[in-house]
Amino acid sequence: MQQTTGPMKTASSSWLLLIGLITSSLWPALGHADGVFAFTAEQATHVRALAASCAACHGTLGNAVVKEGNGPPSEENNPVLAGRSREDLLSKLLGFRDGSRKATIMHQHSKGLSLEEIALLATHFSQQKPINQPRLQPQALKAEHG
Ligand code: HEC
Repeated sequence: MQQTTGPMKTASSSWLLLIGLITSSLWPALGHADGVFAFTAEQATHVRALAASCAACHGTLGNAVVKEGNGPPSEENNPVLAGRSREDLLSKLLGFRDGSRKATIMHQHSKGLSLEEIALLATHFSQQKPINQPRLQPQALKAEHG
């Protein structure tokens, strides 16, 4: 009988993990590389958990529901992260983290993240598809009473 699972699988996944660790440790330094990065299984799980904490404000997979077009970020107008460049997201998050970028909220959020986590999140959101959603418009409530 031929064994196709088990050892083979373990070997290849530990290779992936090793390559992932090497690559990910270089991510913060690779500010200008614009390649597509594949997450290891472990990184994918980790980044999904991290990104879930951003969803309350930045929407599911970075597609925030925006109230006022692409106006300045505010509590009601959280920036869309999906499909933005990785370098842009990276530099904004690093700026929030070291305090060089002004923020109402994000300096708190970024302080709890390691450099690797910031790199994972920037990569994750850059890989999401921006959904062109209708802007929320204020609606006048109108009742017809016949
Ligand atoms: C409580 C709401 C909230 C949560 C949660 C949140 N953000 Fe933000 N985010 C904001 C707001 C508001 C801004 C605009 C800057 C500011 O005022 O802090 C912003 C700005 C940003 C920006 C800069 C976008 C730009 O175009 O300037 C990035 C990148 C970002 N957030 C990433 C994240 C990530 C990644 C997470 C999860 C780890 C996260 N945010 C969690 C509200 C939030």
